[in-house]
Amino acid sequence: MNAASAPSPRGGPFATLLSAARVIPVLTIERREDAVPLARALVAGGVRVLEVTLRTPVAIEAAKAIIAEVPDAIVGIGTILNPNDLARAQALGAKFGISPGGTPELLKAAAASGLPFAPGIATSSDLMQALAHGFDLVKFFPAEQSGGIKALRALAGPFPDMRFCPTGGIGEANAASWLAEPNVVAVGGSWLCPASDVRSGNWNSITAICNRAMKLLKPA
Ligand code: 3PG
Repeated sequence: MNAASAPSPRGGPFATLLSAARVIPVLTIERREDAVPLARALVAGGVRVLEVTLRTPVAIEAAKAIIAEVPDAIVGIGTILNPNDLARAQALGAKFGISPGGTPELLKAAAASGLPFAPGIATSSDLMQALAHGFDLVKFFPAEQSGGIKALRALAGPFPDMRFCPTGGIGEANAASWLAEPNVVAVGGSWLCPASDVRSGNWNSITAICNRAMKLLKPA
């Protein structure tokens, strides 16, 4: 990537989008028919920026359905593992992409694609790879398991301009602590959409979890 097309410092507009959202639900949708009611339940709870992961056979169709039928949702694609996943995300109209990691070929393709993209990092070397491709907003994954807030603070030393979206092991009990870190733009997690509620169609419960999270986590 050349300097002219490099993302603007400190994460740019993508960081602005995520920091307004505060929380990003990580969605693993098993049945196509759950996609729209699930997205509506999240949006009703004030959670509009959604990460639909490419972890199930219906993920692409589910994301397309949400984009078509839930206009208030801002849909990104997660679990992007390679350039082919990235191309599929772009083709369906995803607003952003997120990866748990970052191979050189994926980072290169993402930098060239122009899609707002957060590669995953867990170490300094991962961060250096991401930076070398122009990315200054990354997913810290798996956040709790990789050393938690202490590890994030340690990484902030050599990488003061890096912005993070931690996910992995984050829930209602610890989300506020993560968000209080100055280099954290948003937190991600599956706690906003428990699989049991999705399976039983308990959409009101998901809206209630989101309402609670937004009340707890929105800045005053
Ligand atoms: C992710 O991809 O971000 C994680 O699977 C979410 O982790 P969690 O289930 O611990 O929230």
